[in-house]
Amino acid sequence: MLIKKIAILGGTGFVGQSLCNRLSEDGYELKVPTRNREYNREDLILLPNLELIETDIHNPKNLKNLLIDCDAVINLIGILNEKENNGKGFKKVHVKLIKNLISACEINGIRRILQLSALNADAKNGKSFYLKTKGEAEELLRSNSAGIEITIFRPSVIFGKKDSFFNRFAKLLKISPLFFPLACYKTKFSPIYVLDLVEMMTNSIKDPDSYNKSYQLCGPKTYTLKDLVSYTSKTLGFNCLIIPLNNVLSRIQAKIFDFLPGKPFSTDNYLSAQTDSICECNDLFRYNIKATAIEDVVPQYLSGYEYRSFYSKFRNNS
Ligand SMILES: NC(=O)c1ccc[n+]([C@@H]2O[C@H](COP(=O)([O-])OP(=O)(O)OC[C@H]3O[C@@H](n4cnc5c(N)ncnc54)[C@H](OP(=O)(O)O)[C@@H]3O)[C@@H](O)[C@H]2O)c1
Repeated sequence: MLIKKIAILGGTGFVGQSLCNRLSEDGYELKVPTRNREYNREDLILLPNLELIETDIHNPKNLKNLLIDCDAVINLIGILNEKENNGKGFKKVHVKLIKNLISACEINGIRRILQLSALNADAKNGKSFYLKTKGEAEELLRSNSAGIEITIFRPSVIFGKKDSFFNRFAKLLKISPLFFPLACYKTKFSPIYVLDLVEMMTNSIKDPDSYNKSYQLCGPKTYTLKDLVSYTSKTLGFNCLIIPLNNVLSRIQAKIFDFLPGKPFSTDNYLSAQTDSICECNDLFRYNIKATAIEDVVPQYLSGYEYRSFYSKFRNNS
């Protein structure tokens, strides 16, 4: 399959920016839709061969037009929380978009989609709206009758300079540096480095062996959430007391946080965290990718946290 031009849906996000950088190095032409071009242009505009297009891809016509001259699509769009708490937001972003994407690919003769999903995505048994709808998206893609070759990537939590995991806990720990009530503290994760994931995706694009495969992707070690938050606290130089919340208190905390702006934790997150996010088999080995440990990367972007945040505050005020 000849692939020169790729549409990267969600290319402006944390994973997307790393992926765009990597694919641009390989000489691919890239098309990245965004809901707000001005907001995202700084991060991507300098990449050669990248077209950043402001459009609403939930409109099927716009999506069809976006894909007109593309050979493949990589879908990275995903949300961890929705405005309301009824699953409709997740359905729209994770499921309806995929239905429209399959149609748009069929109309444009596109035969290749890479989908970034998540460990434990499961249309039937997923415990949260997030996991259920991610699973539904996988099923739709796998059963497409348009002859589109699919590869699905199912990572544990992803870390890297602009991640929303360590950076979010770092921000929360700054607010509460002495003690920190932690829900779902026993849940296990095997954090994977964003550049390892990106390498995996880049290798798969043209590899027929990856067609119709789902890859589980993890880092080299497994930690409980409590380990990871303690690690974040130590890396920031705090001596924070982590207070584990039992199941009932975790659920209550989630219910309260449902009403906070930006939802730092939600009932849906609580439900997702009822299942460990770990791999049965880490598929990074298929392209000889050696998993990077959090200890080799996270201190580089968390240690200067106080210092950097001082300057961004300064910039915001100027
Ligand atoms: N980060 C993790 O730890 C992790 C772990 C497992 C799986 N995943 C999955 O990996 C994917 C990428 O994650 P990420 O951390 O890079 O996400 P991210 O930084 O939040 O980026 C997602 C991108 O999707 C677009 N987007 C978000 N909501 C949208 C909406 N309602 N309609 C249209 N576009 C929307 C945004 O683009 P614009 O704002 O430019 O429109 C954004 O750039 C997601 O599907 C996520 O579920 C992530």
